[in-house]
Amino acid sequence: MKAYWYDNVEVRRPAPPHDSGRALSESELAAVGVTYSRHPTLATVDQLAEERGYRNRDEVTVSPEKMGDVYEDKVKSFFSEHLHEDEEIRYIRDGAGYFDVRSRGDEWMRIYLEKDDLIILPPGIYHRFTTSESNYIQAMRLFKDEPKWTPLNRSSELEENQHRKEYVRQYS
Ligand code: LAC
Ligand code: NI
Repeated sequence: MKAYWYDNVEVRRPAPPHDSGRALSESELAAVGVTYSRHPTLATVDQLAEERGYRNRDEVTVSPEKMGDVYEDKVKSFFSEHLHEDEEIRYIRDGAGYFDVRSRGDEWMRIYLEKDDLIILPPGIYHRFTTSESNYIQAMRLFKDEPKWTPLNRSSELEENQHRKEYVRQYS
């Protein structure tokens, strides 16, 4: 894991790494409700899932090889700023990718995740995802029952969403 402020320089496509050179600490991530942990074995992931009541999981591979023609469109959609009404938990099994989350001041905080890294994003936080230069990531998604993966794209109306309001109440 490596976290830093995003440099906001847009070139061609949102090609990584966009490192401003200003590092972010785990406690700065925790201040916006983002939790990071490292799990070299599945045992501690199982434990975390148990503690939080996560009974289901699946694995996704995001790569041109695996996804074919839809890869570019998929990555584009992951990169639109959105939130979810549930927590988003991702455990990286292989490859790498970037999660961007909004700071209190509405700047992008970039989190580079690779194999064994696990991240928990709270409900209601604005975020986006993109693959790394390797164009390959395999991730485990943890969920409770019926997963609400639906990304709700950022809009002013979304500020009225109860999950968003609760997030803002708790973290700003
Ligand atoms: C998701 C990531 C892309 O919603 O944020 O699956
Ligand atoms: Ni998401």
